[in-house]
Amino acid sequence: MNSLFRHLVAKGEKPNPQYIASERRLRDRPIIDARHLTKVYRMEAVEVVALCDVSLVVYEGEFISIMGPSGSGKSTMLHILGALDQPTSGEYYLDGIDLAKLKDRELAAIRNRKIGFVFQNFNLLPRTSALRQVELPLIYAGAADRTRRAREALEAVGLGDRVYHRPNELSGGEQQRVAIARAIVTNPAIVLADEPTGNLDSRSGIEVLKIFQKMNRERGITTIFVTHDTFVARHTNRIVMLRDGQIVADRIVPNPYKAGSVDRPSQDAALQAIFNLTAGPRSAKAHPA
Ligand SMILES: Nc1ncnc2c1ncn2[C@@H]1O[C@H](COP(=O)(O)OP(=O)(O)OP(=O)(O)O)[C@@H](O)[C@H]1O
Ligand SMILES: [Mg+2]
Repeated sequence: MNSLFRHLVAKGEKPNPQYIASERRLRDRPIIDARHLTKVYRMEAVEVVALCDVSLVVYEGEFISIMGPSGSGKSTMLHILGALDQPTSGEYYLDGIDLAKLKDRELAAIRNRKIGFVFQNFNLLPRTSALRQVELPLIYAGAADRTRRAREALEAVGLGDRVYHRPNELSGGEQQRVAIARAIVTNPAIVLADEPTGNLDSRSGIEVLKIFQKMNRERGITTIFVTHDTFVARHTNRIVMLRDGQIVADRIVPNPYKAGSVDRPSQDAALQAIFNLTAGPRSAKAHPA
């Protein structure tokens, strides 16, 4: 345990998540260990290098946002981390397992057991009740007690009174919460989400963020999501910035916002807050004595 963390705990203060994150780094096994990932899409005559030598280690319980301009490789990276796609080169260990060594059937089992996915457009089945959607991963896994577990997952996302609703009978925010329930019902080690708040209005976005924070805090689910929204990113513990297929910044967020407790500032102010607070001694250089 590092001294600052010990000091905070001894004083009975609630430890700052940024210290928890660094603490985990010393103590825990990485849940994601990606080394020198490259992804090249080959189209007829052209090659698109979507990821170029990306290495990333994520420790259990972290809550990370991946940011970056359109086309910078965020979705490509999330798909590889979620074992939905293979890198062209590089190594990827998920919870200590070398994914390159697995056969398709084994990969599918790992995806089902260890990973929950949430997409921007919810990806729910039409004409299917919320309860049934959430039961599906349990059916694939051959799990027992499916209806009870699906109900519990829906209750956990605040939809205990909507279990028989179909997607067209739910709001966008509620549909996304069904998708989250479906992602967590198998008790995955990690949840990956590609712009989960991208299609939602601000209020529903905050509701969805609250659920991600709760799942991360209470169940320790490692969470990685892609967002374009700096305010949303400010609610996570760490921000990884991609540009042109490479990681150009990787910062711990000091004092992440608790969803619903802070009003949305201007985009500029949010970004500045993140980078000024973590920049350290750079400002000293800007004001020479
Ligand atoms: N299946 C594919 N075949 C060919 N090129 C692809 C494919 N998928 C993505 N690309 C290219 O790879 C690059 C990275 O794409 P990616 O979807 O990862 O970007 P992104 O950061 O998620 O962008 P956005 O914010 O717009 O969703 C882009 O230049 C894109 O055109
Ligand atoms: Mg994308």
